[in-house]
Amino acid sequence: MKGRLITFEGIDGSGKSTLAKRVVEHLRGDYEVVFTKEPTQTWIGNVVRRSICSDTDSLVELFLFVADHAEHVVRIQPALRQGKIVISDRYSDSQYAYQGALLADRIDDPIGWIKQIHDEWTIKPDLTFLLLVDPVVALTRCARKRTKFEEIEFLGKVQHNYLRLADEEPERFVKIDAERELDEMEEEVMDKIIKYLGER
Ligand code: TYD
Repeated sequence: MKGRLITFEGIDGSGKSTLAKRVVEHLRGDYEVVFTKEPTQTWIGNVVRRSICSDTDSLVELFLFVADHAEHVVRIQPALRQGKIVISDRYSDSQYAYQGALLADRIDDPIGWIKQIHDEWTIKPDLTFLLLVDPVVALTRCARKRTKFEEIEFLGKVQHNYLRLADEEPERFVKIDAERELDEMEEEVMDKIIKYLGER
């Protein structure tokens, strides 16, 4: 049996990490679930985190994120082969949305180009929850742990990119209004996952 890959995406402060963790706890009672994230908890992920905290060039940073994604894909493959449900807090759509925004003034159609880099080897998620929130609200939420990617205008561009990705693949993306209470979001996401797993 083939496993399932479910990802959570959204701008910083959208609440996706907390929601993803809750969903994992919920599913664990009934399914074999593996929880993972990008940047990964590997030495490559550490390099990525180091680049986030410095003024690394955006193109260099893209390739670090892509290397980390390649490492991630290798690591989740066995679990998927074993039929497990892999839940990831960020995945390749983060590269398309974030690095797509950062490289917009240097590369024609950056999202298309970054997707092409991934095409031959990545594993596409089966289902992606996209948490949508006003960047102003998002920034207030993450005021305590700002990274260099967190400013209103930039997060607006990233969210715009996410929405474009969702428009391109409406069957994969589920848009979630992330300005609501966590409990409400969790209920909606759990409903969708249970329905999806029931249909497979
Ligand atoms: P984040 O998920 O917020 O990590 P943490 O849980 O450690 O805070 O990711 C860190 C930052 O990196 C965040 O601002 C989004 C950015 N990012 C990219 O720009 N591209 C990517 O491909 C990924 C995975 C993250």
